[in-house]
Amino acid sequence: MSQSSIKFAYWVPNVSGGLVVSKIEQRTSWTIDYNRKLAQIAEQSGFDYALTQIRFTAGYGAEFQHESVAFSHALLAATEKLKVIAAILPGPWTPSVAAKQLATIDQLTAGRVAVNIVSGWFKGEFQAIGEPWLEHDERYRRSEEFIRALKGIWTTDNFTFKGDFYRFHDYTLKPKPIQRPHPEIFQGGSSRAARDMAARVSDWYFTNGNTVEGIKAQVDDIRAKAAANGHSVKIGVNAFIIARDTEEEARAVLAEIVDKADPEAVNAFGDAAKQAGQSSPEGEGNWAKSTFQDLVQYNDGFKTNLIGTPRQIAERIVELKSVGVDLVLSAFLHFQEEVAYFGRYVLPLVRELEAAAQRKPVAETA
Ligand SMILES: Cc1cc2nc3c(=O)[nH]c(=O)nc-3n(C[C@H](O)[C@H](O)[C@H](O)COP(=O)(O)O)c2cc1C
Repeated sequence: MSQSSIKFAYWVPNVSGGLVVSKIEQRTSWTIDYNRKLAQIAEQSGFDYALTQIRFTAGYGAEFQHESVAFSHALLAATEKLKVIAAILPGPWTPSVAAKQLATIDQLTAGRVAVNIVSGWFKGEFQAIGEPWLEHDERYRRSEEFIRALKGIWTTDNFTFKGDFYRFHDYTLKPKPIQRPHPEIFQGGSSRAARDMAARVSDWYFTNGNTVEGIKAQVDDIRAKAAANGHSVKIGVNAFIIARDTEEEARAVLAEIVDKADPEAVNAFGDAAKQAGQSSPEGEGNWAKSTFQDLVQYNDGFKTNLIGTPRQIAERIVELKSVGVDLVLSAFLHFQEEVAYFGRYVLPLVRELEAAAQRKPVAETA
């Protein structure tokens, strides 16, 4: 098991409707006031990162969406140590705009911004804003060039780059970001193209929720590919966390979320998401095997099964760590209250279990 402690991120609810496509009551709001307070609670509770979402339009009931880069800056301004990951879509953004915007935010926030390059899955959104929609693997080829260009601009003077999607000639960005060598670059996706890109250029690979075995298979694949490329990549896994004093209570909350799911919105989202993956050469993407219940949390977060008592959840997190996971990306029903509960009851247990696992080999040899 890795020596360093597992990290925690939470999904910023900058999109309305929370993180489940359900009519269940959610004391979560997409407003800036709610989100500023949430970010403060999260950093006090021991969270390392907050991940914003980028949406121009949504097909699953997420009617309102605040833009991710502007929103990230507002959260950074309201906090002191939390890192905020701004989501960016190649297409609407170019690497030159993203590099400049994020370098400025990094300067303004003493080096706390990071970026999530999302390759996109939603054709209707691109059509709505008049952006060309590329085929699956082309989207990843463009994202990889985007990341290479970002790194080049952030680290090199007189940057010159000739790609199929982007060109730079003798460009020097000033000022560069504070963070060295550059702000961390995350990416999401589970297809072969996504994994190959992570194994070449990304600092972090985010994947949808899955069983420990499913995640282990992805971790092993990416780490082997990255090693062959002389690259190393860290791994974050999505999970919808339902921590309650008893397992029955937690399971009842899950049952209610699924019972009150909005079938029309879930099926519309499932159709668009599955269609996006089917256009990859392997015919598979993030959501290929997702059931109706899985799709109610739009990144398969129930599958990771962080549902139960604080101890059960802490044990599963440490199990994820033992197969190579570096970060848990969490979502909650009532974000403010549940982030605080997690920080109070789950996180200390995780740290205890991690410490016990570190001590174990010493005890065995004694
Ligand atoms: C953790 C995570 C965060 C994501 N955030 C966004 C987002 O904010 N906006 C978006 O359009 N897609 C987002 N995606 C979708 C991915 O960019 C990608 O399009 C999707 O996972 C399908 O990838 P695949 O075809 O490689 O499986 C996210 C995915 C993951 C795993």
